[in-house]
Amino acid sequence: MNEVLIQTPSKSYSVHIEAGIRHRIGSILKSASSYSRILIVADENAARYYEKDCVNALISHGFAVSVYTVPAGDQSKSMKQYEDVLTFALAEGLDRKSCIVALGGGMVGDLAGFVAASYMRGIGFVQVPTTLLAHDSSVGGKVAINLGKAKNMVGAFYQPDAVFYDTETLQTLPMDQWRSGFAEMLKHGIIGNVALLERLLKDCPTLEAVKQSSQFAELLATAIQVKADIVAADETEAGVRAHLNFGHTLAHSLESLSQFQLSHGDAVAIGMRFALKLSRRFTGVTEDESNWRQWFDQYGFPRMPQHFDPDALLALMKKDKKASYGTLHMVLLDALGVVSVRTMEDEAVLEELRSFQKEEQR
Ligand SMILES: NC(=O)c1ccc[n+]([C@@H]2O[C@H](COP(=O)([O-])OP(=O)(O)OC[C@H]3O[C@@H](n4cnc5c(N)ncnc54)[C@H](O)[C@@H]3O)[C@@H](O)[C@H]2O)c1
Repeated sequence: MNEVLIQTPSKSYSVHIEAGIRHRIGSILKSASSYSRILIVADENAARYYEKDCVNALISHGFAVSVYTVPAGDQSKSMKQYEDVLTFALAEGLDRKSCIVALGGGMVGDLAGFVAASYMRGIGFVQVPTTLLAHDSSVGGKVAINLGKAKNMVGAFYQPDAVFYDTETLQTLPMDQWRSGFAEMLKHGIIGNVALLERLLKDCPTLEAVKQSSQFAELLATAIQVKADIVAADETEAGVRAHLNFGHTLAHSLESLSQFQLSHGDAVAIGMRFALKLSRRFTGVTEDESNWRQWFDQYGFPRMPQHFDPDALLALMKKDKKASYGTLHMVLLDALGVVSVRTMEDEAVLEELRSFQKEEQR
């Protein structure tokens, strides 16, 4: 088993990474906790494949278990769904010693985590991530729901008690979801571990190779470690945690303008290439843009959409909740493995966006 220890001022916990660990969550939790009742909040697709195993693993160790299944897709990170889960928790008799288990990807992790953070002012929370992207979202304690179309506008920092990452569950994940999560793995290499980036590019030249890699659990643990180190240094994003947003300012605007047809990871991949372009101009980094384009093409990531208006993208970037008072801050690359937050002038970003869009034509 690979294990990554997450140490934050509010809580320390382990991310356990192992094929088949879903069958052991009951025994591990029994020895470490005394939850009065467990509510599994499951994404419908994750539930279809893995709910029964998790329920059996918990019941066989004496836990009282209820299950609430939410429809797949980000629309479930809504006020309505949040209220419905809270109401269900109350009806099922969850008390302050109870625990919410999130079974699924980042969507259900964020929703269930916010329920756990707010139900009776905070109860136990365990993540059982089943997507590759969740190597990012299940670690670090950011939980949230969307407010209408505004992403993650209502939330909290609420660390889980434990994360059980069963690599077997990724075998049923569609390939476009592998690609989405892989963008965040590349990002963790780019911003904090160049050796990881080089290993990914050399040993896993295709997504199928990532999926089949005998080193996969270890690569995952290495990517999680990058996030763990940053979160340990800055739990609530007062400083270096913002570095995790590399590529994300443009990405959030792309996701929004595409009405969420572009996946998070696909948008982040485009955003990282744009951040590199800005970095070449403003930090003097010499990384080759065409090399980066080639890496991302090789994994099947999409190019910058040609029909999006740069002015509309800029307006959305300035509305990002990480912008302050309408001033744009972006994470740029100082060198491979080293990033910093820079304040950007609107005109410069617009000019680079226009030229980036042209360069991204196939
Ligand atoms: N909290 C954080 O720090 C953080 C970080 C990044 C992203 N996020 C959030 O994470 C969400 C995106 O997460 P995601 O990419 O995991 O998406 P997701 O949770 O929506 O899952 C993607 C798709 O995969 C399906 N699925 C999940 N597990 C499966 C499995 N094992 N087999 C088959 N299908 C499966 C789901 O039903 C869904 O259709 C967004 O809401 C984003 O805002 C949060």
